[in-house]
Amino acid sequence: MTYPAFPVSRPRRLRASQTVRDLVRETHLDVGDLIYPLFVTHGSGVKEEIVSMPGQYRWSLDRVCEEAAEAAELGIRAVILFGIPEEKDEVGSGAYDDVGIVQQAVRRLKRDVPSLFVITDVCLDEFTSHGHCGLVEDGRIVNDPTLPLLGRTAVSHARAGADMVAPSDMMDGRVAVIRAALDAAGYAETPILSYAAKYASAFYGPFRDAAHSAPAFGDRRTYQMDPGNAREALREVALDVEEGADVVMVKPALSYLDIIRRVREATDLSLAAYNVSGEYAMVKAAAGRGWIDERRVVLEILTSIKRAGADLILTYHAKDVARWLREGA
Ligand code: PBG
Repeated sequence: MTYPAFPVSRPRRLRASQTVRDLVRETHLDVGDLIYPLFVTHGSGVKEEIVSMPGQYRWSLDRVCEEAAEAAELGIRAVILFGIPEEKDEVGSGAYDDVGIVQQAVRRLKRDVPSLFVITDVCLDEFTSHGHCGLVEDGRIVNDPTLPLLGRTAVSHARAGADMVAPSDMMDGRVAVIRAALDAAGYAETPILSYAAKYASAFYGPFRDAAHSAPAFGDRRTYQMDPGNAREALREVALDVEEGADVVMVKPALSYLDIIRRVREATDLSLAAYNVSGEYAMVKAAAGRGWIDERRVVLEILTSIKRAGADLILTYHAKDVARWLREGA
């Protein structure tokens, strides 16, 4: 065998030192790419660690601003809020209550940490007694009757001061209904980050412990996507773009890098990817046993998500990454 390109081509020339490696690096992580998820709960003085997500907490309203301020000081520009209500009911009333847990948290954050961009998750599952993202009739999750409630939820978040709303329910048509509801209520300027390609994933397990939102019966496979499908993700994204999404998301991230890449190629919109709770939990579990180097693994994972094509990454590692980048990772 002959190697005609060798010795002229020697890729190792550009790997000889950190300086030259930095010069030719194609993908850079930036703290400005990160969105930090926060869980808010009732009570006061609460900072309760989530068992399956070491280092992540449920925060009461009086404490969440400290955490958000710390994130902002580290250079993180945006948070996304998830609420854990005191009471749940069949129709998820807490989701669209103007004094609901998320609405109260938004008001506090906008008052106490005004520089921070506050995104809200728009969904019913944390607020319904059955734990589903839509209304339930005769054991089925019904699409169209759910839509006005999602519209109301988004409007109440905007009224509380949310900078962007992020529907994660996967009902058909929800972006159009939310856009119309926001516009009618005077929030034409509020952008929508749509969880456009959201898969029915086992990687959400720890989140459901954190938010007490596991479905009481069945699963989410009648509305979230089948992990085997890629073309369908492009169709979901196209629909959400037509309906008025400003940013689209792929979720989870790590097992779906191919989807991130394909969506990147299919749309010019900003693209977000959600490095979800199960991805976080696996890293924390292995790192806790000393089996992997947490810092290097996290930076490698987030770099791969960005390299696949994501502009923005929702990640529970956000504060650690911000610190590491500051140290010159
Ligand atoms: C639904 C929602 C979920 C997540 C974000 N929004 C859970 C689900 O669909 O069951 C999961 C996020 C994560 O796992 O980190 N409101």
